[in-house]
Amino acid sequence: MKLHIEFLTLVIAITVVNANDWWMNGNFYQIYPRSFRDSDGDGIGDLNGVTEKLPYLKEVGFTAAWLSPIFKSPMADFGYDISDFYQVHPEYGTMQDFENMIKKAKEIGMKIILDFVPNHTSDENEWFKKSVDGDPKYKDYYIWHNGVVDPTTGERKPPSNWLSAFRYSAWEWNDVRQQYYLHQFAIKQPDLNYRNPAVVEEMKNVMRFWLAKGISGFRIDACPFLFEVDLDRNGLYADEPPVTSGCPDPDDYCHLQHIYTNNLPETMDMIYQWRELTESFKKENGSDTKILLTEAYTDFDIMIKYYGDGKRKGSYVPFNFDFMGNVNKDSKAVDVVQNVNKWLNAMPKGKDFYPNWVLGNHDSKRVASRFGVEKADLVNIMLQTLPGNAVTYNGEELAMTDVFIKWEDTVDPQACNANPTNFNSYSRDPARTPFQWDASPNAGFTEGTETWLPVSEDYKVKNVMMQERAPHSHLQIFKKLVRLRKEPSMQDISNLQIKAVPDNIVIYSRYTPGSSRYVIILNLGSTTQTININDHFPVGQKVEIITASISSDYSDGEVVDAARFSAKGNVGTVVVAVQ
Ligand code: NOJ
Ligand code: MG
Repeated sequence: MKLHIEFLTLVIAITVVNANDWWMNGNFYQIYPRSFRDSDGDGIGDLNGVTEKLPYLKEVGFTAAWLSPIFKSPMADFGYDISDFYQVHPEYGTMQDFENMIKKAKEIGMKIILDFVPNHTSDENEWFKKSVDGDPKYKDYYIWHNGVVDPTTGERKPPSNWLSAFRYSAWEWNDVRQQYYLHQFAIKQPDLNYRNPAVVEEMKNVMRFWLAKGISGFRIDACPFLFEVDLDRNGLYADEPPVTSGCPDPDDYCHLQHIYTNNLPETMDMIYQWRELTESFKKENGSDTKILLTEAYTDFDIMIKYYGDGKRKGSYVPFNFDFMGNVNKDSKAVDVVQNVNKWLNAMPKGKDFYPNWVLGNHDSKRVASRFGVEKADLVNIMLQTLPGNAVTYNGEELAMTDVFIKWEDTVDPQACNANPTNFNSYSRDPARTPFQWDASPNAGFTEGTETWLPVSEDYKVKNVMMQERAPHSHLQIFKKLVRLRKEPSMQDISNLQIKAVPDNIVIYSRYTPGSSRYVIILNLGSTTQTININDHFPVGQKVEIITASISSDYSDGEVVDAARFSAKGNVGTVVVAVQ
């Protein structure tokens, strides 16, 4: 009988392994290439720097790295303004360097995902220049408009009140073409015209080009902005209504309800078309699965639609920005539990659908600064132990914090469009400073003397080398978590049981019969609370500490009484039932 059960478990285990594609329960790492590692001493990170550090990613245990844009760019928005979609940005290296990076990644078993920026190009892109000149092929590649002339004053004004996400009008006058063009981000980022089938095809070719180079997918930028409402399909762009409360500043993007510029049904169709493209690529080439991760800060229901609409599929990883927006340093246990369940309940079910958890990226203040350094491990523990895919922004594994950058030194276009008093709340520079590798000058980011953004002052005490050598560190905790994710109980995305113990304790279990029962305890408050784990999940008398926040009084491997578990404030702990 025992043998029989063991055999069955084996069969089930094998089936589970076979059913798992590489990206499922994946651990994704966002690299901001400009700040990751500079191989040639110019103070700017580059592809050879990424290649050099791939073994680090492997060692930590990531599945894949997604790189913020590496393409040729005048850097008005640090690579999100692309002047040539088919070339590597010279400061970052050459196509040969890119190919070497892919080769090395394949050798060590790391997937590479690139940023795909479909909504806009740089105004220095040949397509835009030709469009300005009225070249027949390119004249309708962008959204052009004569504007409206005031009948009494004769003054010409933009076609609508639409605003740029970076502040001020989304329309810019072009003297050569004698028309306005639409830019929903910086003036140097003209929006492509997705109502032109040639543009759709052009951008699909960009995808095919990089897929053929051996990447494993794309993170798709600014999805909600792809289409705008054109009421008569002939340039009738109506004004958007202002918000009814909050955001009185008429130049700020938040002042308008973006009913004509955001998340049109056509946008969703485009995402599904891109999914179909990646699936055809896989079929035609017998390749690995090429995945899509999508960036959409939008309403919850729409975010969920990015997965698919029941008939067609879309994104593999629609970034869970709902969680990111709703969970913060003041969250109570019930808030966390509600928000976890909200996503799990709403997302489509089926073997191709995985939840995802993300709290940091290059557009946000750093997690350790938002939640407080004392909660940095707790956040990593949560992201790594909830079911599904986890996404980590480079440096969050070390609990890197924001670096304050003075107004005079600020380079982020979004912050530069603000003013000396309020710029810091808009600035994305603080989370983009050089990665901290070791205690050598400039944190081992560069051998040069200058860096494009300042290195954090704490690099001598917060860096990879130190945290690798220390017996207990943010990085060591992170590595433990990554390894834990391989356990069958952590792989089963349908087994989460989660509860709030008011006000501050989140407790959840991951358990699959035949494997171990893991219980995760997060104390969001600042004071110690003693709990009986068995009041919540059956773990028996003793539990073993798998790992815990750096400030925990427990050590990894310690066996403790489940009935009197001391949940210290700001501490996250993973325990396993001792059989
Ligand atoms: C979202 C990107 O993450 C951000 O960095 C960029 O500024 C905008 N999209 C425009 O591309
Ligand atoms: Mg360099």
